[in-house]
Amino acid sequence: MKIAMVGSGYVGLVSGACFADFGHDVVCIDKDPDKIAALNAGIMPIYEPGLAELVGNNARAGRLAFTTDLASGIEGAAAIFIAVGTPSRRGDGHADLSFVYAVAHELAAHIKTPVVIVTKSTVPVGTGDAVERIIADASPPARFAVASNPEFLREGAAIGDFKRPDRIVIGTDDSWARQVMNEVYRPLFLNKAPILFTSRRSSELIKYASNAFLATKITFINEVADLCEAVGANVQDVAHGVGMDKRIGGKFLHAGPGYGGSCFPKDTLALLKTAEDCGSPIRIVEAVVKVNESRKRAMGRKVIESLARHLGQPAHAMRGRRVALLGLTFKPNTDDMRDAPSIAIAQTLLDAGIAVMAYDPEGMDVARPLMPEVTMAGSPYEAAEGADAVVIATEWDAFRALDLARIRDLVRTPIFVDLRNVYSSEDVRAHGFEYTSIGRESNRM
Ligand SMILES: NC(=O)c1ccc[n+]([C@@H]2O[C@H](COP(=O)([O-])OP(=O)(O)OC[C@H]3O[C@@H](n4cnc5c(N)ncnc54)[C@H](O)[C@@H]3O)[C@@H](O)[C@H]2O)c1
Repeated sequence: MKIAMVGSGYVGLVSGACFADFGHDVVCIDKDPDKIAALNAGIMPIYEPGLAELVGNNARAGRLAFTTDLASGIEGAAAIFIAVGTPSRRGDGHADLSFVYAVAHELAAHIKTPVVIVTKSTVPVGTGDAVERIIADASPPARFAVASNPEFLREGAAIGDFKRPDRIVIGTDDSWARQVMNEVYRPLFLNKAPILFTSRRSSELIKYASNAFLATKITFINEVADLCEAVGANVQDVAHGVGMDKRIGGKFLHAGPGYGGSCFPKDTLALLKTAEDCGSPIRIVEAVVKVNESRKRAMGRKVIESLARHLGQPAHAMRGRRVALLGLTFKPNTDDMRDAPSIAIAQTLLDAGIAVMAYDPEGMDVARPLMPEVTMAGSPYEAAEGADAVVIATEWDAFRALDLARIRDLVRTPIFVDLRNVYSSEDVRAHGFEYTSIGRESNRM
């Protein structure tokens, strides 16, 4: 079966490469000529474990091709996926659908044979209707149907998630589109991937409701972590005990500096806008967005307070100090910096006159233009040299077994702030550091 993927970013590239690996004939299309030239030269535009090999193997096998030319790329395709970005619209937080609609207009001008058009981008309820309208208004010569098929992969584990999904959601009332989508995902039936067919609108909402729920779970445990600090409890034990209840589950109960990334921040905002416009506000998600937003800078203040406490000086007198920030990406195993908490943390420190020296295994090239006042180091140890505090902001594996004795020798002031609860307090303290975690140490002592 021939599949065209319009948009070759995280989702389009991973989905396209996985479909090709299933044996489909895939063309990935992107309007960014540099991205397509890089892909044709075997260079990955993003960091995602296993992706270079998957793309290389399938391109060499002739099942995966890249082009900027939509007209030739979609020729003969039975399904065309739209996987372009849907960022927050400047000013109001609605999803910016201009990329999706631009693709719909281009498709309307070029489809020649019957085809199912599938929105894989995360789009608000009713977008499928709008895409259908745009194409129908252009009176294309061929039959078409528009289906919704939201993507649930996680960056950093994207290939595994795509090949072994918890579920595949397909929104369509059209029996032909259903048949084509069954064909697209047939290779996954071997793995017994659960497939849910539903209406297009329900499918669109499933994606937003899922992300909003996960964002809520993270924010919930983050606030519980603050309470743990106030009452002298340990959030890791609390989360463990809570998560052992199968109705709740242990995932997404890791306290940290707040959620970020390319999806949760924009998707929670977009859901709020849809809900507000429909006169059906979701107040719990309104609270989640507010709490998460203020948490990121609060983490910067937590670092400053640890430093001030240790030095016995007021928090506003930290000008001229230096912090080593370990981890910049919003989570490990990606170079994605979109809405990463590290951006607000670094800014809070800079605003207090504190210099920031950062290190990240994969994210520094993307981070550099986003934080021009932050100096990038060549290793965690270089970042720690002469620092007044070492802060773990992302739980990369590379930070799980740092040589603490070496770091202790390098720093000026022995303060270790672990915003991901990677270390045990005993371990870090045994190396002569003052240790601050999230929700594991009482702030009343
Ligand atoms: N990144 C994730 O983890 C993730 C997970 C699930 C869902 N999603 C959703 O998937 C969608 C895509 O996200 P992403 O992270 O892959 O975005 P991205 O920004 O990495 O990629 C989008 C790509 O689309 C291309 N593009 C834009 N307009 C185009 C056009 N007219 N023709 C051809 N190409 C065009 C851009 O050049 C870019 O390469 C979004 O709606 C996002 O919310 C993302």
